[in-house]
Amino acid sequence: MLNIVVFGAPGSGKGTQSDAIKSHFNLFHISTGDVLRQEIALDTETGRIAKKYIDGGQLVPDDIIIEVLAHVLDKLDHQDGVIFDGFPRTVVQAEALDKMLEKRGQRVDALVDLQVPEELLVERILNRSKVSGRSDDNEEAVRQRLEVYKSRTIPVMEYYRAMGKHIPINGVGDINEISQGIISALEQKLNRKV
Ligand code: AP5
Repeated sequence: MLNIVVFGAPGSGKGTQSDAIKSHFNLFHISTGDVLRQEIALDTETGRIAKKYIDGGQLVPDDIIIEVLAHVLDKLDHQDGVIFDGFPRTVVQAEALDKMLEKRGQRVDALVDLQVPEELLVERILNRSKVSGRSDDNEEAVRQRLEVYKSRTIPVMEYYRAMGKHIPINGVGDINEISQGIISALEQKLNRKV
């Protein structure tokens, strides 16, 4: 089994790259942002709570998102592993994920860190806002999401870096070339472990 965290700031390309590499490794792609947006669309209780946080560019509380993630993982019964896109976003979530995987005899194998300069992140998201319909794709929410990323999410990268699982990737440039770079870096890292 292979479990990869695709990590990066809002707009760094987590969703784009997760989609691009999942078939290469036969992985199931879990985007917690997509799961929450689906809950909002279905007007569930979780969705109603999540919307308040998402619209303000804040993180949904750890206990809620951990329960959501656990529920999705429990339903999985195939594939060679998982790409976690947008989870974990706090050290509490990282510790919870490690425990969930440990119970299954698994672990996080690598954290792919998509590195993109801040002004390009804002530009990408504001461009996307014209078509995405996402309520958090506006300048005020984007700036807030970036602040939250710096204060609460970067420590997750440091947590996995301390375990030797960090793979930095330049997230600027041609999308296909970035995907190839991720695949090569992952294969190299996984082969080294064998
Ligand atoms: P989430 O949906 O995860 O959003 P995000 O992290 O803000 O990331 P984005 O989806 O905006 O960007 P991305 O990195 O996936 O980039 P993308 O591929 O789309 O989370 C939304 C909210 O949900 C959070 O703010 C929070 O409230 C809540 N939430 C979710 N998970 C949570 C958790 N674990 N804990 C608590 N709360 C949680 O690309 C962006 C744009 O750039 C696209 O238009 C794309 O086409 C373009 N692009 C991508 N790559 C390139 C490239 N190389 N060159 C040019 N353009 C590119």
